[in-house]
Amino acid sequence: MTLVVPKQGVRPEVQAVVEDVIRLRRDLHRFPELGFQEHRTARVVADYLEELGLPMRKGVAGTGVVALVEGAGPGPTLLLRADMDALPVHESTGLEYASTAPGKMHACGHDGHTAILLGAARVLAGMKDRLNGTVKLVFQPAEEGPGGAQPMIEEGVLENPPVDAAVGLHLWSDLPVGQVGVQSGPFMAASDTFDIIVKGRGGHAAKPDQTVDPVVVAAHLVVALQTVVSRTVDPLESAVVTVTRMHGGEAYNVIPDQVELGGTIRTFRPEIRQLVRDRVKGLVEGVAAGFGAEAEFRFEEGYPPVINNPAMTELVAGCCRSLLGLEGELPDSRTLGGEDMAYFLNAVPGCYFFLGARNDETACNYPHHHPRFNICEEAFPLGVELFVRVVESFFDSPPAREV
Ligand code: NI
Repeated sequence: MTLVVPKQGVRPEVQAVVEDVIRLRRDLHRFPELGFQEHRTARVVADYLEELGLPMRKGVAGTGVVALVEGAGPGPTLLLRADMDALPVHESTGLEYASTAPGKMHACGHDGHTAILLGAARVLAGMKDRLNGTVKLVFQPAEEGPGGAQPMIEEGVLENPPVDAAVGLHLWSDLPVGQVGVQSGPFMAASDTFDIIVKGRGGHAAKPDQTVDPVVVAAHLVVALQTVVSRTVDPLESAVVTVTRMHGGEAYNVIPDQVELGGTIRTFRPEIRQLVRDRVKGLVEGVAAGFGAEAEFRFEEGYPPVINNPAMTELVAGCCRSLLGLEGELPDSRTLGGEDMAYFLNAVPGCYFFLGARNDETACNYPHHHPRFNICEEAFPLGVELFVRVVESFFDSPPAREV
């Protein structure tokens, strides 16, 4: 591997756990589990934390695990979060540690997140005597849906001791190893979903005049929906409306009664979220009525947007810059993908950031959720080191809490 990754900033204590991190990650990769089924994963996590002698709560929101690293001195509490779930994807990487569960795969890197946080736990446990404050390690189920962050919060994960700030990372295949994406303000999008049921009147395909054809109405609707972002939303704002499902009809000679559409709406800000939702609804009803059909619009709110706190972002960015030798503005890595880290960041100030995990030479360059997705393990020491630096920096000078 010829990738140039700065090693000089990675302390020996972190280098000493890299073997563990790789071993844990490959083990989790072999046995992926979907949301709220992470029973084996949670056991691996709990066993490792138990060996470190850390106080722990298991079974939080089903399969979640929470542990504490209690520093010798008093101080604030910082939550570090990793997600543990895999995806319903059939792996085709051919790796020797590829998934052994058909149709399930760690195709987003959450195996790496869990392993990195376990590595950080070991380093932090080893430096307890020098820490003034408490680190709360949160291993969360079901990020890919239906969401484990909110139920963990409902089960009190932000209390006892009360959490002052939260930080998490996502390994990111859009960025090469050695790069990071850190941005204050809206960082990832609200991810809502919608269903549209176009109701016409079916009949003989050769006598369309006797029908109200929902296929034609649905086709117009798909095209009309393309104007929501391009003609309604301020061009300086970001939003996505994507139709991902279209179902209707069975036969060549029958016009069906109804056609169903579905898709997703992604936005960064509440006002734009409401605007897009209203506009889609208006078009659905208006277009259908124009053709003498009816349409039902169902909207389901997904995760809220991930909003990074400015002071916490500056703290994290400072750690990234010093470790990776990056200067000036870090690259803009905002994405309209969704993340339920948003719930933690809604409740307390914090920062979620991307850690580059791309390596073109080792085929670690497929998009997230792809059957050949893989992460470059050279990113692991950087992830562990960054978590430890963020803890030190936060305990040294916690940013004043803003309202
Ligand atoms: Ni993910």
